Amino acid sequence: MSAASAVAASASEPTAPLPERGGRFQPPSNPAPTGRLAAVQEMARWLRLLFETEREFVRTATTLIYRVGEPELKYLLCQHVWEAANHARFLRERGRELSGFGTTDEVRPSLRQLFNEAVMPADATVALVGFYRVIKPALHDAYRRYLTATHHLADWPSRKLVEEFLADEARHAAEIAPYLPVAASASEPTSASPVAASASEWSAYLTTLLDSHGGLHSPTPPLSLSPSPPLSLSPSSAPPLLSVTRGYTHPPTPNRGRFPTCSSVFSHDPAETPIVRAWLIDPTTDARVIRMMVYVWLMMELDAVDYLATVFYDTPHAPFDLHHDLARHLWDESRHSQFGYRQLPRLGVDLLTLEHSLDLYTILVQMTPPERYAMMTMEFEANSFPTKAHVMDRVRELNDFEADTLLAFDRNDEQNHVRSGHRWLPVMMALFGETRSPEEFVTATRARFAELAKTYGGITPHSLPPSQRLTGEKILRLIK
Ligand SMILES: [Fe+2]
Ligand SMILES: [Fe+2]
Repeated sequence: MSAASAVAASASEPTAPLPERGGRFQPPSNPAPTGRLAAVQEMARWLRLLFETEREFVRTATTLIYRVGEPELKYLLCQHVWEAANHARFLRERGRELSGFGTTDEVRPSLRQLFNEAVMPADATVALVGFYRVIKPALHDAYRRYLTATHHLADWPSRKLVEEFLADEARHAAEIAPYLPVAASASEPTSASPVAASASEWSAYLTTLLDSHGGLHSPTPPLSLSPSPPLSLSPSSAPPLLSVTRGYTHPPTPNRGRFPTCSSVFSHDPAETPIVRAWLIDPTTDARVIRMMVYVWLMMELDAVDYLATVFYDTPHAPFDLHHDLARHLWDESRHSQFGYRQLPRLGVDLLTLEHSLDLYTILVQMTPPERYAMMTMEFEANSFPTKAHVMDRVRELNDFEADTLLAFDRNDEQNHVRSGHRWLPVMMALFGETRSPEEFVTATRARFAELAKTYGGITPHSLPPSQRLTGEKILRLIK
């Protein structure tokens, strides 16, 4: 038995201590790979499995974002996805220094199947529990065991990374805890809510599935980096895979939980919406009104969070660097939305009176991933700069250093997003067999968006009557 498989065999001991710095190294008694670089290759194969796991988490945990309703939870998921993308990036960078890591970004089919299954619960909370009570703890445990198994000095560069990732995983578990249902306890199973009961059932199922291909421990006996057969569960424990019997589809509308919704927060009518287009550019508008409107605008970038999150799952064969940059883009949009979400209450806005606009999601989800991404980067973002520049100049009259800072970082991020769009749109188009030039594609996509907007735009009625919702007129009263 190799050291790594011994580690895997002892996986049921979650309290195994971390190795002390410079602690005694247990050499593998019978390493699976043979030859001069066998010791390196064994660890490289494990890093490879961890890289693929982090990248699949990015691809699939993003499906939770538009399905959960609480903005704070959406923001947190965006942050975790971005951190996972960074883990994957550094694992790949380190892995490529080692013999046996492999040169492609591809994910083995058995692992992909596990993650395809993880997105399947119809209830977002149940799916969330699968990711955070089964997959993330398994990843945390695998990192912990990697530290035990590797040589503290020989593999120092990996060790430093893994130590950092372990701290991240522990923090992620603590950060997500308030959003998970109380687990059903064995002694009082009936006290759990129906969601908690289905969540524990789902967790048990996902755990079986994960265990059936050896968990996330060292892939010894050697796991081929070439395509492996789908997961094979023993007949007695093998429920049919949900992801094989039906496909996963994005919901036609994003979930906004307890918050009121509408089609759009932009209009020309101050009695209708909080952002009044004419007021944004009218030089006589009070700068405090402009500041309030731009915070609403920023908060509504939650729509960008929700529709951008749909692109990952739909592009399983994208190069990892594309998903890495999209994960950054996603996290940027979640921060921009937080600029508004955190500042508006300070200016006297009750967030429960602010309707969330759903139009962009409901239209874009009808389009292909490259179309969604083209509209986002080449249309919405690329064309937002002139108005935002004017808004920034007006807000600067207020000597509000924080507002100026938020808007400056927003502008800088948006410039990066347009740059990213120029880099990745052609790649995404190629993934979908699109042969037109990006310019032709963007022009055609714009027309298709306008057409689809006739059916899928304007379909979300106001949740609140004008007397109860934040409008331009209410903003005027708030600044008095
Ligand atoms: Fe943004
Ligand atoms: Fe953006």
